[in-house]
Amino acid sequence: MSSIKHNNSIKHTSQDLVLFGSLGDLSLRKLLPSFYHLERAGFLDKSLSIHCVIRDDNETNKFYEKLKESIQNHVKEDCYSGDIFNKFRFVSRINCIGLDLKDPSGYKKLKQSLPKNGSATSYYFALPPSMIELVCDNLNDNGIINKESKIVIEKPIGIDYKSAKNVNDKLAKYFDEEQIYRIDHYLGKETVQNLIALRFANSIFASQWNSKCIEYVEITAAETIGIEGRWGYYDDVGQMIDMVQSHLLQLLCLVAMEPPNELNALNMRHEKERVLKALSPIKDDIIRAQYVDGKVLGESVPGYLEEDGANTESETETYICMRAEISNWRWSGTPFYLRTGKRLAEKATQIIIHFKSDQHFIFDQDQKQLAGNVLIIRLQPTEGISLEVVTKDNGVDKGMRLRKDPLHLDFFKSQEVSRMPDGYEKMLLELLNSEQRMFLTRKEVELSWKWCDQVTKAFKSSSQKLCKYGAGSNGPDEAKQMIEKYGHKWYEDR
Ligand code: BG6
Repeated sequence: MSSIKHNNSIKHTSQDLVLFGSLGDLSLRKLLPSFYHLERAGFLDKSLSIHCVIRDDNETNKFYEKLKESIQNHVKEDCYSGDIFNKFRFVSRINCIGLDLKDPSGYKKLKQSLPKNGSATSYYFALPPSMIELVCDNLNDNGIINKESKIVIEKPIGIDYKSAKNVNDKLAKYFDEEQIYRIDHYLGKETVQNLIALRFANSIFASQWNSKCIEYVEITAAETIGIEGRWGYYDDVGQMIDMVQSHLLQLLCLVAMEPPNELNALNMRHEKERVLKALSPIKDDIIRAQYVDGKVLGESVPGYLEEDGANTESETETYICMRAEISNWRWSGTPFYLRTGKRLAEKATQIIIHFKSDQHFIFDQDQKQLAGNVLIIRLQPTEGISLEVVTKDNGVDKGMRLRKDPLHLDFFKSQEVSRMPDGYEKMLLELLNSEQRMFLTRKEVELSWKWCDQVTKAFKSSSQKLCKYGAGSNGPDEAKQMIEKYGHKWYEDR
């Protein structure tokens, strides 16, 4: 309905961005289309150059073809404009550089492409983690990095606490913590940002946000896609590392954190670290599962072990759910159920807050299960918030029969926007503005690994087997049993 006009989007000054791994899936599917959207919205400074690093100069034509294809495929038709792409802005700020990352002498070419005036350059590593040290060494040996440089690293950082610490140590050799941007694109999603507004700008929720008023919290990231040809990467990590270690734990932090003193990087990130520190170890209540063949959105799909190039003996989970607890004053006694899986019935990323009902229920007792409000914070596919409230059934003959209906806020409609931006757009803009608030600290990454390592260890030492679920289902039956054991239900099963 109303908002105070304020535009703090464009602050960055002249700088360059080097994108390593420009022909990779992340660059083509997310990063370059996000830059295009920023361009279209007029958020990129005229002087920004994007240096796209590819393996060698012979791939230059292929790169430009792929770039155009990727923008056309991943940018909605009504947002695509040949003019913006071709003639004057987007393509002209892209500079393609062929460079064998393993060859130290090749970096001279990169150095020559960058401005000599020492302006800040961001190095975006859309690369496998194993390349980080090598590329940093070469940048350093060629005198390419300085105190103004920024480095952007994607999740997962490492595959456990030890390897994450190792990566962080390597980064610290060349960069101060303020120069390192550890990205989790979930933090750039509009609804995630809105969660901060919802919690800290609405006093009605602030006073209810604790274990006295909240019975349990569900955090779900369900996907319909499988592993999309990423066997090599995925089978080594599984859903625990791919989704829980960063995306789900970050959502949990934002739901559970104390109000920061100020809305800045220092305070926000400090409060998230405190939540991670307070996570209790999990002993039981972890369900891991793998999909077997089935139908997703009407299409038959193979099981995980039958995917192209599969290791038919794999014990990697494509689904995981668990019951987490936060041992602090605010949350002791309120479980946080985390679950995430591939090849599920629908794409849905949501946080569901189940409020407690009043002890004394004055309506017919058979309606008691209706009591208790539910707040649904939807990140995907449609971004918005619903609050389920209990009202009376309409009609003079209905007496005091109760019903539950949602008060529904759809951000797309209520804010009359033509599209919701992708999380990467926000993150790239924050990076260009050198704003660290939405990026992760070393401590956050390492604390979340410590907890995840413990979960993995607990599972390995338990006698529990890897469960199965049909592609296109809501996950394994064991996940239902796990939550129902505590008298709770997943949102869709109520
Ligand atoms: C990535 C994971 O970080 O997030 C993918 O590696 C996953 O496996 C993706 O599909 C989900 O992101 P989103 O924004 O589509 O929920």
